[in-house]
Amino acid sequence: MTSRSYAEYEAMFDLTELPASVLDCSAGGSSFTAEAAARGVDVVAVDPAYELSMPELVDTVRRSLPVGMEIIDANEGRFVWTWYGTPQRRDDLRLEAADRFLQDIGEAPDRYVAGGLPELPFEDGTFELALCSHLLFTWADTFDRAWHLAALRELIRVSSKEVRVFPLVLQGTGDPVPFLPEVLDELDGVRWEIRKVPYEFQTGADEMLVITHS
Ligand SMILES: C[S@@+](CC[C@H](N)C(=O)[O-])C[C@H]1O[C@@H](n2cnc3c(N)ncnc32)[C@H](O)[C@@H]1O
Repeated sequence: MTSRSYAEYEAMFDLTELPASVLDCSAGGSSFTAEAAARGVDVVAVDPAYELSMPELVDTVRRSLPVGMEIIDANEGRFVWTWYGTPQRRDDLRLEAADRFLQDIGEAPDRYVAGGLPELPFEDGTFELALCSHLLFTWADTFDRAWHLAALRELIRVSSKEVRVFPLVLQGTGDPVPFLPEVLDELDGVRWEIRKVPYEFQTGADEMLVITHS
């Protein structure tokens, strides 16, 4: 349950300005929702982990912080530091984001909804933009092709304009996901493109999926 910041989301999803309503799906311990809300956006975070009690959530977020570094160490040479600069800068961003998330979920719990793909507790077209960071494709060793197709269709259902997904490669190794093209071919009634973003951490993971409602 990682804690990425608004700055990381801005780069991963190449966000210039946000629409009026945004969903952060699989939001985990990210501070994106807190920071977007502070900018006046109507933003909701959804994650199955929000069922946890506050002490459990604090514990989960804190324990997740070193796990990312273990993955990086175990996959030496598969990460580039051009965006972060140094491991320290990355750690600082994650720590700040975790603190901001924990503060916000305590102060504004209505922004944080317990739920998970492929069935989200929202009406059709609730959000202009749905973002999904570090779940789809990156966990393709856990969730299969059918799950990914159902999850993408659900993100399309709850959004009215656009869905953005990052990254498009497997966690750790950065290997491509073999079923990605087949899943995209099966999407109906939308346009999609794979677009370069100004962010890279796993080597070669510098593209997002953009799905646009027709
Ligand atoms: C690697 S974290 C990413 C957190 C955040 N988006 C970020 O970029 O820092 C993946 C998150 O996906 C959540 N998750 C797991 N299964 C899920 C599901 N079926 N639907 C939505 N989120 C799920 C986990 O609880 C976890 O918080």
